Amino acid sequence: MAAKIAPSMLSSDFGNLASEAERMLNCGADWLHMDIMDGHFVPNLTIGAPVIESLRKHTKAYLDCHLMVTNPLDYVEPLGKSGASGFTFHVEASKDNWQELIRRIKSKGMRPGVALKPGTPIEEVYPLVENENPVEMVLVMTVEPGFGGQKFMPETMDKVRALRKKYPSLDIEVDGGLGPSTIHAAASAGANCIVAGSSVFGAAEPAQVISLLRKSVNEVQENI
Ligand code: DX5
Ligand code: ZN
Repeated sequence: MAAKIAPSMLSSDFGNLASEAERMLNCGADWLHMDIMDGHFVPNLTIGAPVIESLRKHTKAYLDCHLMVTNPLDYVEPLGKSGASGFTFHVEASKDNWQELIRRIKSKGMRPGVALKPGTPIEEVYPLVENENPVEMVLVMTVEPGFGGQKFMPETMDKVRALRKKYPSLDIEVDGGLGPSTIHAAASAGANCIVAGSSVFGAAEPAQVISLLRKSVNEVQENI
């Protein structure tokens, strides 16, 4: 499993998004993680398709969109048009329409993923991974979604371990509180896609943090 390090642009200077994106790519980022919040599914409001569309004009990077929204279906069409690469919706917000969601996300040329909050049992995403038209990534939230800069919840690692055991080649992403002091727990549990906001943007040398995160994931992957 390839390591994908995805700085969360929520911690960037939104007033200079294009140059912040370029800076992260120059520091070795694989993906740019874009947190889309509707002020309803979570108590915070961030960006939507117009901002993704603007950023897309400045970069060819993989835009890993994390939808913390109550009605993900409403976002498929606009995000597809805006140039989003990945579309990760929450299982808690798609109980009755995830099959349609996956179909539509793929038809717009995006890569479907499913996310779950810390309190949601891992079994809830199994049908989406095992479906004949499956999600291609599972995002295990390691904090309550809504804000950057929160503390990593180590108890969520049981879910990552269960997923990795069941699906050896699945992309498993972790998001929230990841940095030099928590990466070992996540990487050794089996996560290969790492979102990091405050630890990367708050560092004097973001490139060093990105390379340390990658090294941890690669070391574990090499020993499998
Ligand atoms: C939280 C977001 C995260 C957040 C991570 O709801 O989904 O992507 O930006 O930020 P840090 O790494 O600071 O916890
Ligand atoms: Zn996120």
